[in-house]
Amino acid sequence: MKRIKVAVAGAGRIGKIHIENIFERFPRVELALVADQSPEAETYIKGKGLNYANGFDAIVGNSEIDAVIICSPTDTHANFVEQAAKAGKHIFCEKPLDLSLDQVVKTLQVVEESKVKLMLGFNRRFDPNFLKIKSMVADGKIGDPQILKITSRDPGPPPVSYVKVSGGLFMDMAIHDFDMARYIMGKEVVEVYARGAVLVDKAIGEAGDIDTALTTLTFADGTMANIDNCRKAVYGYDQRLEAFGSKGMVKVDNNFPDNHQYYSDAGVHGSLPLNFFLERYTTSYLNEMNAFFQSIQNGSDLPVTGNDALEAMKIALAALKSVKENRPVKVEEIV
Ligand SMILES: NC(=O)c1ccc[n+]([C@@H]2O[C@H](COP(=O)([O-])OP(=O)(O)OC[C@H]3O[C@@H](n4cnc5c(N)ncnc54)[C@H](O)[C@@H]3O)[C@@H](O)[C@H]2O)c1
Repeated sequence: MKRIKVAVAGAGRIGKIHIENIFERFPRVELALVADQSPEAETYIKGKGLNYANGFDAIVGNSEIDAVIICSPTDTHANFVEQAAKAGKHIFCEKPLDLSLDQVVKTLQVVEESKVKLMLGFNRRFDPNFLKIKSMVADGKIGDPQILKITSRDPGPPPVSYVKVSGGLFMDMAIHDFDMARYIMGKEVVEVYARGAVLVDKAIGEAGDIDTALTTLTFADGTMANIDNCRKAVYGYDQRLEAFGSKGMVKVDNNFPDNHQYYSDAGVHGSLPLNFFLERYTTSYLNEMNAFFQSIQNGSDLPVTGNDALEAMKIALAALKSVKENRPVKVEEIV
């Protein structure tokens, strides 16, 4: 297998996960350079003995680098993807690609013209629980799928400063669930009906966002998905999924740090679910990186594409429109 050289842009929360994984788990991948602008990140990168740069130019200007992993803030993604594509580098980009549909369409065009690979970080597709459901649905174990139910609640809301630039609950948080619905059902969503509310923190409402939502997705053949999102679940990160069909039902529960049950005269108690995405989705982050590198090294198809980013984004925009206009919105209305 060909040895490849990669660079990472952005060594924050998610960037560090990918850096650690590449460093420790992929002997045939060389982490040649990490770019970031913060002094903390510089200390971290140099502390690991890695080459540091304070700007993206150093990555695109280095002809030895085969691929770049973009983990910088969302408002840098489209620009960095276009620069990397024009420089002939394969790209893994964290979600979302951008908050503007026009920009996403333009960026995907640049990628297509540059003939490089672009994979989006819809990591939940690589989670062992959800992979099990995907394979059982695809193998016909539940017969014809009829209803998909996704519960996706965070342990606590992000700071309002983050909310303001995040693109909102649908674009920032539920976008993973919209992608998951398309992935598990294996078909496109045609209509979105969403209700949203501010039930957790008034400041989120004052920033123009919602913190709680119920979304019904309808697929072309009339099958449906129901997605339940909230920015705060007092018991931790709540990530469950259930698929129901003509021959049965399959579901997955949360992951826990251990499975002990303590019995007393007050009741039966266990551990809280794993607290947030960094703990809960550890395996998925490793698996998605593996899939990206394999695609570059073996020429295999990417499991998540730019088109997946576009379709999930259209669903998010339709959900927002549905809440604002209090009506079901056809995805084809989103142009
Ligand atoms: N797939 C997932 O589960 C997941 C989870 C969290 C975040 N994300 C996405 O990843 C991205 C980063 O999120 P985060 O939570 O790691 O953010 P973060 O703020 O923790 O880290 C971002 C890093 O990028 C650096 N940076 C800022 N501008 C830069 C530039 N111009 N060039 C290079 N580096 C720059 C910052 O200094 C910081 O170290 C966001 O787009 C977010 O939506 C995805």
